[in-house]
Amino acid sequence: MMKSNPSISELARVMAAGRKSHVATRPPGPKGTPVMGVMREFNRDSLGFIERAQSDYGDIVWMRFLYVPALFLYHPNEIEYVLSTNPRNFRKAMSLRSNFFQRLVGNGLLTSEGEEWKRQRRLSSPAFHRHRIGAYAGIMVDYTSRLMSRWQPGEARDMHREMMRLTLEIVVRCLFSADVSHDVDHVGDTLKELVKPFASQATLKWILNNRLPTPTHLRFHRLAKRIDDVVYRIITERRASGRDEGDLLSMLLAARDEDGSQMTDQQLRDEVMTLFLAGHETTALTLSWSWYLLGKHPDAEKKFHEELDEVLGGRAATIADLPQLKFTEQIAKEAMRLYPPAYGLGREAIEDCEIAGYPVPAGTQVSMFQWVTQRDERFYDRPNEFRPERWTEEFTETLPKYAYFPFGGGPRACIGASFAMMEMILVLATIGQKFRLELAPGHRVEVYPAMSLRPKDRVEVVVKNRV
Ligand code: HEM
Repeated sequence: MMKSNPSISELARVMAAGRKSHVATRPPGPKGTPVMGVMREFNRDSLGFIERAQSDYGDIVWMRFLYVPALFLYHPNEIEYVLSTNPRNFRKAMSLRSNFFQRLVGNGLLTSEGEEWKRQRRLSSPAFHRHRIGAYAGIMVDYTSRLMSRWQPGEARDMHREMMRLTLEIVVRCLFSADVSHDVDHVGDTLKELVKPFASQATLKWILNNRLPTPTHLRFHRLAKRIDDVVYRIITERRASGRDEGDLLSMLLAARDEDGSQMTDQQLRDEVMTLFLAGHETTALTLSWSWYLLGKHPDAEKKFHEELDEVLGGRAATIADLPQLKFTEQIAKEAMRLYPPAYGLGREAIEDCEIAGYPVPAGTQVSMFQWVTQRDERFYDRPNEFRPERWTEEFTETLPKYAYFPFGGGPRACIGASFAMMEMILVLATIGQKFRLELAPGHRVEVYPAMSLRPKDRVEVVVKNRV
C-alpha cells in the first residue's frame, strides 16, 4: 500500500538531505496509451526511448508497461541506493523469472534469490578469487593463438563471430579443462544454437509463448536436454574420480558450506549453465566493440601497439604482464563505457519503499541504464568520444561510483569481473601483437539492443600483419 502521509522522521530525513519532499507524488514520466502504457514506444526504439525519458523528464522517471509500474533511475546516487545501499528490498526484474530462463539456468547465481542465492554465492566465490583464476590465463592465450592460426593476412573476418567463438571455447575449457572428449566441444556448438533467441528483439514474445509446443520451442527443449545430458555425465564422472583437475568445475564440486554441505548435481548443473551463458557473450561483445573502436581510432591503435611492443616484445603475454598492460586495460574499460554489454539492469521492489523522496510501491520494476549514465556529460568530458586515456587513477577516484557500472554493483555484482578483465586484456594483447584489424571500407556498425548490446550485423575487418 502506498503511504499518503509522510511520517515526521521521513520528513526530517528528506529535509536533512536538502531535497524537496515528493512524498505521495509520482515522479514525472510519459503517459503512453491507456492499455499498453509505454510498451509500444519502448519496443519500437528502446535505446532512443530510454535516452528521451531522461532528457524529457530528468533523473527519475515513472511509467507503465501494460499494467506494470516502472521506474527508470539515471543518477548514480539512486542507482547506488538500489544496488548497494538497500539491495535487500529489490529482487531481479520480472523478465528474468520467465520459464525460458528457468529452463536454461534454473536456480543458478544469476537468477536465484534470498538464502539460496547467498549460499550459492558463498560456495562459488572461491573459484573466482584472483589467485585462483590466474590458472586460466594460459587457456586464454592458447585458445587465442589457436584462433589466429586460422587467419590469413588480407582476408576479411567478422570479428564479432570470431570473438563469440573464442570466448565460448575459453569458458567451456575453464570449466571442463580435463575433459578432452568430443562431447565438450559439442557443448559449445549446442549452446550456440540454444541461445539464438537471445539475438532477437522478438525475445520477449518468444519468452511469453515458451509454453506452446511450436517447432522452435520443441527444438529449444531438445537442445537444452542434450547439454544437460553431457553436463550431468561429466559431473557424475568427476564425483566418481574425486580428482581436483584445477578447473572451475573442480572448484565448484569441492566447495563446502560451514555445515559441510555441498552443491547437489542439480545446483552444479545450474551454475555451469549460468557460467556458460553469463561468461561468454558479454566478454565477446566488449572485445568486438574494442576492435571496432580501435579500427576507428588510429591514434589509440598506435598507442596500443606501442604498449604491446614495449611490454611484451614479441613473446606471449602472461598473467604477470597484466599490471603493465595499462593502456590495453583502459581500452577495454572505455569500450565497456561506450558499449556496455549489459546496457541496463532491472530490479523489482519487494516492499513499498522510497527513492529520493518518492514513494515506490512493491512490485514496481526499477531499471538503471549503463547506456545512458555512462555517457552522461555531468560525469564524462566529451562523453561520446572514445578516449581510453581518460581512465587515470585520479579520474577513477573522483568519478561517482555508480556513474560507471558495467559489472553491476553491490552484493549481486558480476562474480566473473576479474576473470573477464583478465580475459579481455590477454585476448586484445595476443591478437594486437600480431595483427592489425582494419575495418572493412564503408562498413558501418550499428548497435542492436537485444538481451545484450550487440553490433547489428557484422564487425567486418581485414586482417593485416603488423610487421
Ligand atoms: C565483459 C564481461 C562481463 C560483463 C559486462 C558482465 C556483466 C554483469 C552484470 C552487469 C551483472 C549483474 C547483473 C545484475 O545485477 O542484475 C553480472 C552478473 C554475473 N556475471 Fe557477469 N559480466 C561479464 C563477464 C562474466 C564472466 C566472464 C562470468 C563468469 C565466468 C560472469 C558471471 C556472472 C554471474 C554468475 C553473475 C551473477 C552474480 C550474482 O548474482 O551473484 N560474468 N555480470
